[in-house]
Amino acid sequence: MTDVVVRALRDDEFRTAHTLFRAALHSGPATDEQWERLREVHQPGRVLGAFDERLIGTARSTDAELAVPGGAKVATAAVTGVGVRADRTRRGVLTALMRHQLTDFAERGVTAAVLYATEGVIYGRFGYGVASRIRDCVVRRSRARLRPGVPEGGEVELITVDEAERRLPDVYERVPLRPGMMTRPARWWPGLFAMLRRGDGHAVAAVHHGTDGPDGFAVYQVDREGGKAGTMRVIDLHYADASAFAGLWRFLLSVDLVDEIVVRHRGLDEPLELLFTDPRACESSQLTDEAWLRLVDVEAALAARTWRGEPLVLEVTDPVLERNTGRYRVGPARVERTDAAPDAVLDVAALSMVYLGGWSPSALVAAGRIGVEDDATAERFDELVRTRHAPWCGTFF
Ligand SMILES: CC(C)(COP(=O)(O)OP(=O)(O)OC[C@H]1O[C@@H](n2cnc3c(N)ncnc32)[C@H](O)[C@@H]1OP(=O)(O)O)[C@@H](O)C(=O)NCCC(=O)NCCS
Repeated sequence: MTDVVVRALRDDEFRTAHTLFRAALHSGPATDEQWERLREVHQPGRVLGAFDERLIGTARSTDAELAVPGGAKVATAAVTGVGVRADRTRRGVLTALMRHQLTDFAERGVTAAVLYATEGVIYGRFGYGVASRIRDCVVRRSRARLRPGVPEGGEVELITVDEAERRLPDVYERVPLRPGMMTRPARWWPGLFAMLRRGDGHAVAAVHHGTDGPDGFAVYQVDREGGKAGTMRVIDLHYADASAFAGLWRFLLSVDLVDEIVVRHRGLDEPLELLFTDPRACESSQLTDEAWLRLVDVEAALAARTWRGEPLVLEVTDPVLERNTGRYRVGPARVERTDAAPDAVLDVAALSMVYLGGWSPSALVAAGRIGVEDDATAERFDELVRTRHAPWCGTFF
């Protein structure tokens, strides 16, 4: 292929890059009004361009923090805006962008990178692996009776999108982050509100008030046709605890002129159907991958989370960031590099998959992605990574 030069773009090049990205997704360019908001999501220094004589590919990232098992948060790059001109694909442009980006992350002390993938074949080769999975749910309102014993929850206050733009960032900060969730930097929010305003503008937000103030929210809109009852689409839903979860659902179920409530991209262990006397009032579908994780600094990432059971020696290979290649003794007391014989052999993508607890290592052993001596070692590895909650990101970027 022709030589590709990758460099960080200047601020005045962001819009061209954004237009290229949209075209790669078969969308038209942002209008001037949309761009006023969307320029804000582009973090200076983090928007990359690939050039031959002109811009042919782009990828960008935003600095954020990722919650890992045990409650620590690690420096993370949220990767998005990845696209290559359709007339320049399959000649290594993305590869050049990814290598440049990962090297830059490593140099800047980023611990992990996270992205959402349009296709499942793109990012594994760069060390990313599916770390969390999600499902969509449809709740039939006529069948959805809450079980006795479901918490009452608190008051719910309905606010407009304009108010939500001012208030939801603070409410989100009050939500404890479970493994896989990310902080939402100030430059994340304009993307959500640009999307809410792109529709026909009837989205609203419900804020839940607990005993210590606002502790959850649901952003939704109801689509109705021909005067019939409609479909409520829940766009963003977060809560601090079981009371806020139940209180928000009590409210959503009480909204008139709604037949069904569609809530997408939820964590696999969110107990929505368990709220109902008839658990089939909630139909779940579309199990799919959510966040793709890439450990950038393996040693720092291993040290940041908590582990259970007995230590194991993991032999990790990383063809892109070679410094990660090596053996690590990983256990509840400490994590250290070692020369000891390995108990398990895996590449950085497989390690990224099991890191948040979203897959048991035994599943990856069965799929030929982790090598272990025997079943007993696989079981010890399962115990090592086991977490209380299934990981879930819940923040699309
Ligand atoms: C996905 C995309 C960025 C890939 O860019 P690219 O420059 O063609 O990627 P590369 O040439 O560096 O590909 C590297 C390898 O991945 C493979 N690959 C990349 N994208 C692929 C895809 N969509 N389907 C199948 N294989 C793919 C290539 O065949 C190549 O394999 P090889 O090394 O065995 O030859 C580009 O196709 C694109 O812009 N797609 C539309 C927008 C999109 O989906 N963006 C991703 C947003 S998350």
